[in-house]
Amino acid sequence: MFQLRNLGALFAVLGLHAVTGHLIDDFGAIRDDKALETALLNSDAIKQAFVAASDTTNSDNIVEISEGSTYHIFSSDIQDIHDVTFQIDGTLIVHDTLEDWPEENGLFVFNFEDSTGLTLTGSGTVDGQGYKWWWATLLNTRAHNFRPNLFEFANVEDCIISGFTTKNSPRFNFHLVDMLNLEVFDLTILTDLKKQEEMLRDHGKWDLGLNIPMFPFNTDGIDPAGKNIYIHDVYIENWDDAVAVKPSSTKYNRVCTEDVLIENVKVKYGVGISMGSVSANQYHNCINNVTVRNVEFEDPMKAVYIKTNSGGEEGTDSAIISNIHYENLTIKNPVWYAIYIGPQQMKEPDGAGNGCMLYPIGGDEGCPVNPLVPIYNVTLKDITISGGVTPPVVRCNETAPCTGFEFDNVQYTSWASRAEGWICENAFGTEKHLQPKPCLEQE
Ligand SMILES: *[C@@H]1O[C@H](CO)[C@@H](O)[C@H](O)[C@H]1NC(C)=O
Ligand SMILES: *[C@@H]1O[C@H](CO)[C@@H](O)[C@H](O)[C@H]1NC(C)=O
Ligand SMILES: *[C@@H]1O[C@H](CO)[C@@H](O)[C@H](O)[C@H]1NC(C)=O
Ligand SMILES: *[C@@H]1O[C@H](CO)[C@@H](O)[C@H](O)[C@H]1NC(C)=O
Repeated sequence: MFQLRNLGALFAVLGLHAVTGHLIDDFGAIRDDKALETALLNSDAIKQAFVAASDTTNSDNIVEISEGSTYHIFSSDIQDIHDVTFQIDGTLIVHDTLEDWPEENGLFVFNFEDSTGLTLTGSGTVDGQGYKWWWATLLNTRAHNFRPNLFEFANVEDCIISGFTTKNSPRFNFHLVDMLNLEVFDLTILTDLKKQEEMLRDHGKWDLGLNIPMFPFNTDGIDPAGKNIYIHDVYIENWDDAVAVKPSSTKYNRVCTEDVLIENVKVKYGVGISMGSVSANQYHNCINNVTVRNVEFEDPMKAVYIKTNSGGEEGTDSAIISNIHYENLTIKNPVWYAIYIGPQQMKEPDGAGNGCMLYPIGGDEGCPVNPLVPIYNVTLKDITISGGVTPPVVRCNETAPCTGFEFDNVQYTSWASRAEGWICENAFGTEKHLQPKPCLEQE
């Protein structure tokens, strides 16, 4: 008698194997029903489809969300998958009855781990339905981190993410750790900015004078860490880091986040294409060799943003940020810092981090630079900034000064910044064609 699992092989022998992918309906998924039981069932069906598609005895290796279909989903934990394409042409909607989710850190909608040859693509949408999560975070009825990231990846090799749209993620859209050979392109990442603004205004967390949010929703766009990472042709709208390159250390297979290229990106609002934040740790936290080029920022909170965290034990903990190149950026109407290299600005709601948000208005007593996270070889080239009221900031520690910096053709012509000049501390290198004023000391 044939076992069920041998049917695929039988069909293959008979030439009857499906030419389309594994529809998740074949694993029990139900369309257009938002009941919790259905969302759980659907997320389990997705997982089962992945396991089937990863089985090399099967002839097709596609998990398919077909065009025009809609499924409510919960959380899928998917591990040890090889050479599978997740074809997202329909709509996936994340279950948003908060009480159904456990109250713990590290929640996710999708978790892909210890896998190789993973492609996520399609023309569909993953809707995170973040509103209730944002409210809960703002009102402090859920701990800040007890929200799911939409896509969580760890230790994935040869990975492509492209085509589809994510919107209103409860927390990060893509948190991609310990990656090797990652390409992300043609993605659209949307956040309901109006709704977030309304919420913040209602709760006095919107600075009326500066017209900026004073509370991070942590709806980051793409946060990658690992080696050989290429992110290009993406559009990102949010009130947090558009892309945040995260450090790696010997804790992971990829001991440093390095060889990263980010190009042809458009960002609306956003808190920068950032490096960090980087803390010193016992594993030597590291970001090296990152190029960011051909980017348009519209009304950003920040654009160029390299951020260090405070803390760490001298002699035990260390870190490095090196060889970071920002080139050909157009920054229009920055609402806060267009260029900020120094201690992390956001004070997280859990109280961690420095109180650097209003630096230098509040003085720098609350905002020291961490000497355990030195920054070397930063290039800023062909950067045009129009509008904006705050000066560019480059702050390094006197015991671990920044060296090897190269600034070439950075034009910041707004009146206020011209009056103020740059704020530069302990930064060395060469510069030319710099407006409004010089910044670097000669080495
Ligand atoms: C830096 O990364 C790029 C990929 O973005 C790579 O082509 C280049 O070889 C790397 N440079 C060094 C010195 O490793
Ligand atoms: C600079 O970036 C813009 C996109 O923001 C692009 O259209 C242009 O071709 C780039 N210039 C160069 C010299 O690469
Ligand atoms: C440099 O680091 C030392 C030790 O942490 C600290 O006391 C000092 O304030 C830092 N300097 C700046 C400019 O923040
Ligand atoms: C900075 O750049 C110089 C010149 O290219 C290089 O010799 C040095 O190793 C770089 N520093 C780091 C920390 O990568």
